[in-house]
Amino acid sequence: MVTRVRDRGLAEQGSLKVYWAERHMPVLMNLRRRYKGSGLFKGLRIGCVLHVTKETAVLALALRDAGAEVYLAASNPLSTQDDVAAYLAEQGIEVCAWRGMSSDEYWGCIRGVAEASPDLVTDDGGDLHSLLHSEYLDKASSIIGGTEETTTGVIRLRALEKEGLLRYPVIAVNNAYTKHLFDNRYGTGQSTFDGIMRATNILIAGKVVVVAGYGWVGRGIAARARGLGARRVIVTEVDPIRALEAVFDGYEVMPMSRAAEIGDIFITATGNRDVIRREHFLKMRDGAILANSGHFNVEVSVKDLEELAVEKKRIRPNVDEYTLPDGRRLYLLAEGRLVNLAAAEGHPSEVMDMSFANQFLALKYLYQNRGRLPPRLMNPPLEIDRGVAREKLAAMGIEIDELTPEQKKYLESWRT
Ligand code: NAD
Ligand code: ADE
Repeated sequence: MVTRVRDRGLAEQGSLKVYWAERHMPVLMNLRRRYKGSGLFKGLRIGCVLHVTKETAVLALALRDAGAEVYLAASNPLSTQDDVAAYLAEQGIEVCAWRGMSSDEYWGCIRGVAEASPDLVTDDGGDLHSLLHSEYLDKASSIIGGTEETTTGVIRLRALEKEGLLRYPVIAVNNAYTKHLFDNRYGTGQSTFDGIMRATNILIAGKVVVVAGYGWVGRGIAARARGLGARRVIVTEVDPIRALEAVFDGYEVMPMSRAAEIGDIFITATGNRDVIRREHFLKMRDGAILANSGHFNVEVSVKDLEELAVEKKRIRPNVDEYTLPDGRRLYLLAEGRLVNLAAAEGHPSEVMDMSFANQFLALKYLYQNRGRLPPRLMNPPLEIDRGVAREKLAAMGIEIDELTPEQKKYLESWRT
């Protein structure tokens, strides 16, 4: 893999950013200190396809310090922090990532990771796992194991497993409680509005916010919309249980066909395609803002918007104005890509601390159990999850109670 970044001269700026992340990632930093020089991953090539942010840098450096050769490509063409990528290149990480890469360049970098013959792989969204299982089966067959960071990637891996094609064991890091309950919910909840506000500088108070999808990400976004003073928060769903939860959490629930007429700001978080499409654009108010926080840029149909519009103009960084034939203007943020990473810095370091501590420990588990795990998709071992929670609480100076022996016995007994 050939290291390629936007501008190596940005390394100093990147190092300060990474320093700031390190100050806010105590659990991962403890792991980094504990395994530095231990040779835990000595001689191993670890291939990573992740958003190249200051938090990812801390993970990559922790893996390097534990002995690994790290190969890193971007998991989205718009999410790379160029100064961080430059710093990582200076630190001996093989990195292929820059903000604004084309689709061919994006895939070229991921190919570079596959061609490096990694022993362990870490992916965010499943593009690396998918490529390894289609074009690099020889490489996939010799991989010890992999991890997956996000819901969309886990869904794709489940489909791969169902067809009996998965070649190596994969830990669905997304499914760790200390990942999705915090990263997907609080991380995306806050950083989605960070992205919307950096891009537009609009006031959220008084607005009608429509959130598509009431999964972990959607509920975080809805909660923050309410906290910022949105006048109405409307949820759209396809799952009756999740829709009911949204109702009981105090939100309005309705189909997108009705919400489209009412909303000022639309935010998709479904992991699904065409959630907002032609028929919805045709009903929207002049000035409606469209943002996506789901993994891929398929949730808002950019194709429909491009076809409908008579004019398209970039009016601010990350804000494209689409004028419809009747003169109404709709504003698409970050080209429909995940707004929190493309228009802001992604999740705050404090939540990535837990996500990436899970990643580090999942890779350690896969390596230490090599040869013993079937090529299946598995949830992270509960002891890893609980250990991360315990360390996070300790880092925050929070103590909790312990079960007394009598309580333990009581909870293990069925007798009255
Ligand atoms: P989830 O499975 O918990 O929730 C998704 C919800 O969307 C489900 O309740 C589902 O019923 C609903 N849904 C599906 N199709 C819909 C439709 N057409 N209309 C309305 N609702 C629909 O998943 P999640 O963990 O909340 O993740 C959602 C997406 O966000 C995924 O793509 C995930 O990879 C991504 N993600 C992004 C970030 C980020 O940093 N931006 C972080 C974590 C996850
Ligand atoms: N996904 C969401 N936020 C992120 C961040 N800050 N770094 C890496 N991946 C992320």
